[in-house]
Amino acid sequence: MQHTGHATLSASEKLVVAAAGAAAPSVFNAQPWSFTFTDDGLEVRAESRDAALPTASAVRDVHLSCGAAVLNSRVALARLGHASRVSVLPDPGEPLLVARVHVTAGVPDASLDELYRWVDSRRTNRYPFRPERIPARVLTLLHDAARQEGATLRLLDGEPAYQRMLTSIRRATWTEEEAVRDDREARLSPDSGVSVIPPANLGPVPRRELPDDPPVRDMAEGLDVPGRGSAAFERHPDLAVLETADDGPGAWIGAGQALQRLLLEATGHGVVASFANQPLEDAWLRTEVAAGAAHHGHPQMVLRMGYATARPPAAPRRPLDEVVRYADA
Ligand SMILES: Cc1cc2nc3c(=O)[nH]c(=O)nc-3n(C[C@H](O)[C@H](O)[C@H](O)COP(=O)(O)O)c2cc1C
Repeated sequence: MQHTGHATLSASEKLVVAAAGAAAPSVFNAQPWSFTFTDDGLEVRAESRDAALPTASAVRDVHLSCGAAVLNSRVALARLGHASRVSVLPDPGEPLLVARVHVTAGVPDASLDELYRWVDSRRTNRYPFRPERIPARVLTLLHDAARQEGATLRLLDGEPAYQRMLTSIRRATWTEEEAVRDDREARLSPDSGVSVIPPANLGPVPRRELPDDPPVRDMAEGLDVPGRGSAAFERHPDLAVLETADDGPGAWIGAGQALQRLLLEATGHGVVASFANQPLEDAWLRTEVAAGAAHHGHPQMVLRMGYATARPPAAPRRPLDEVVRYADA
């Protein structure tokens, strides 16, 4: 598309940008964001519909989700021919203002523009993966995508780090705090009335096969969701940890942008991902995951990556008019 060099977005461009932002992944598909269009771009705000976020990890996940939405809005702006610049947490007096994305004069980032075609087809895939591993060449591209947003994708490709992560993922099942389990059940139970992850997106229940539990953790562990069936999962998925040098809201927003950049890059190479963040929800297990790194990175996401055997439907999204605002309205 032609570069206009003009900062003002048309009404239809605003909707394209907001739709891309809203297509981002979010924790429990909560879509905890809003997009306010201003004279020179947009503001992304964290908006959690929960009265109270039960844990520190829930707060972190909201920032990560909003970061992913910021990246998608930058991608859409690039596709529309606009260059952009992001200010993360620009107003100390308004901590829920995650980022301002300013439309600037100049040439749009071609590498972002190229990712736009994957915005709608990316999805979290909790189905079994094919047995083949991701080639090193593709893993390097995913690592570079995270690096461009200031984060590190630490691939767990050697022992003992790989086994240690599997143990942490399994241990998270036994140590899940009651408040976290209740929250998970409330969000995923089809009877709860608030479920935003349809059963088809949960994938099948991983079948237990001796000697080990499957190397995935069922997001709906312990819940009776009808119609899911069960399946054997791959024995050795590619596992990786997305890490940042710092910890805190700014780092989480950066990690969310890195996550989405690498997920779009992955989609372009036929690679799908699901997440196994459960060890990060427990403060002690998170320290254990962090200790696995040679450097002192802060783990923000645990990714399981591979090649799909089935494609889940698109997870539903809130109507755009619920999440779009106009500063002059
Ligand atoms: C910060 C964050 C944490 C997430 N944690 C998990 C997780 O632990 N397990 C999981 O299966 N999916 C996890 N997800 C994926 C979301 O459930 C998913 O993005 C959402 O349901 C929307 O579906 P989609 O990604 O297919 O659009 C996470 C996503 C984000 C952004």
